[in-house]
Amino acid sequence: MAKVIAILNQKGGVGKTTTTINLADTLSQQRYKVLVIDLDPQGNLSKVVSGGDVRFECNVMDLFSKENKSDINEMIRAVNGSEYFFYIPTDIRLSRVIESGLTLSFREVRLTKHLNKIKNDFDFIILDCPPNLSLTTTNAIVAADLFLMPINSGVFALDGLEDLLDALNEVTQDKTLNYYVFRNEVAVKNKIINGAIKEDLEQIAKERILKTVIRRSEHIGQASFMSLPVSKYKQGSTAINDYKSLAKEILTLFDTE
Ligand SMILES: Nc1ncnc2c1ncn2[C@@H]1O[C@H](COP(=O)(O)OP(=O)(O)OP(=O)(O)O)[C@@H](O)[C@H]1O
Ligand SMILES: [Mg+2]
Repeated sequence: MAKVIAILNQKGGVGKTTTTINLADTLSQQRYKVLVIDLDPQGNLSKVVSGGDVRFECNVMDLFSKENKSDINEMIRAVNGSEYFFYIPTDIRLSRVIESGLTLSFREVRLTKHLNKIKNDFDFIILDCPPNLSLTTTNAIVAADLFLMPINSGVFALDGLEDLLDALNEVTQDKTLNYYVFRNEVAVKNKIINGAIKEDLEQIAKERILKTVIRRSEHIGQASFMSLPVSKYKQGSTAINDYKSLAKEILTLFDTE
């Protein structure tokens, strides 16, 4: 039965999509069968995993549309012919469907219901959320077993984190909140900023901080630009090891349940 991981943070540009791609790529190389789902109408994830497409005939918006005629199985595509790495794409038309979907009944459990049909086919399902708390994010919150939040290293890195945790509590209600934060785009030499963020983060998230940090790496940016996971873009990049550590730590979280 697949473990469902939602990568979320309502702040933009903190590394949600980059984490989704590279974590899924790493797990799939370890022969875990992984499905990534693009829940952001911007479609950044879809563009990378499809190798550059921005329009998809059959896509996530059908899961949220009123007609609901679609079968989720028909939306699944292999990433570059892989037997282990799969995706469900989206495109900008999802934003209009979200607006009309706000009046649907049981609107927050739609994704969960669709995922129940395919959970036995995968080891991991990773949900790439948009930078807001809209309908697709609330669906991801209901569907997920684990919430993973990247935090970047900017001045405003931690702003909104407490609001996000409140939103998680509100949506999940009595479900125990299985969330972890981790630091992304860390400039290791910048000891003053790193120390300050670490201290503030510990105040908010305490024992919920992953040991792994993803360092700032120009290979990561270049790889997304070329529509590739970093392992396919630059052999030997230090970023590959960072994502291996992240995958390993996440696997241990599930082991100890
Ligand atoms: N560790 C890193 N080192 C260098 N660049 C990074 C790193 N992580 C992310 N980036 C770059 O930062 C930018 C934003 O990353 P990404 O698109 O993953 O963020 P996001 O949270 O998904 O954004 P959005 O909220 O718009 O969906 C991208 O250009 C990406 O290549
Ligand atoms: Mg994104």
